[in-house]
Amino acid sequence: MIPDYDQQLLSPVTDQVVVFVKRHASGPIIEIGAGDGRWVRALRDAGLTIRGFDPWSSGDGVETGDHLEAAKADGTTLLAIWPPDGPLVQAWIGSKVWDRIILGYQRGRLNFDHALDSYEMVDDLLEGGGKKGPYRIQAWRRVPS
Ligand SMILES: C[S@@+](CC[C@H](N)C(=O)[O-])C[C@H]1O[C@@H](n2cnc3c(N)ncnc32)[C@H](O)[C@@H]1O
Repeated sequence: MIPDYDQQLLSPVTDQVVVFVKRHASGPIIEIGAGDGRWVRALRDAGLTIRGFDPWSSGDGVETGDHLEAAKADGTTLLAIWPPDGPLVQAWIGSKVWDRIILGYQRGRLNFDHALDSYEMVDDLLEGGGKKGPYRIQAWRRVPS
């Protein structure tokens, strides 16, 4: 169940997305741009190993640090939910070699596809919740070179 306050947010952590992340994460998860830490806490409660980083947020469970700091942490799955618009997310993706990347975003389509050149999309879910309506969550897997 989503708490009532979560319904007001843009990217609520629904049961469906928790299942999605559990299915597609491989190894420890690093969340970049973890915001208030809702995703870190919900995924930890669901039994996943996850660390969340954000330079400007001090939510419970969130460590202070940008994507470069986050990339130094031990983790093989990148989680980025509703990253800032613009090219920054390309730097997040490129900050290390990830086995899996899970991206949530509000726009109709990705505008940074080339950052994912060495990854293939394995799943794509349109999540119904959120103050501005549905948001997408996609899972990508690294293609062995
Ligand atoms: C639109 S918010 C999304 C927050 C959260 N993921 C959510 O879904 O509620 C984007 C977040 O990215 C963070 N951010 C911006 N630049 C960053 C960087 N270089 N490294 C890590 N996080 C960054 C911001 O502080 C902000 O919390």
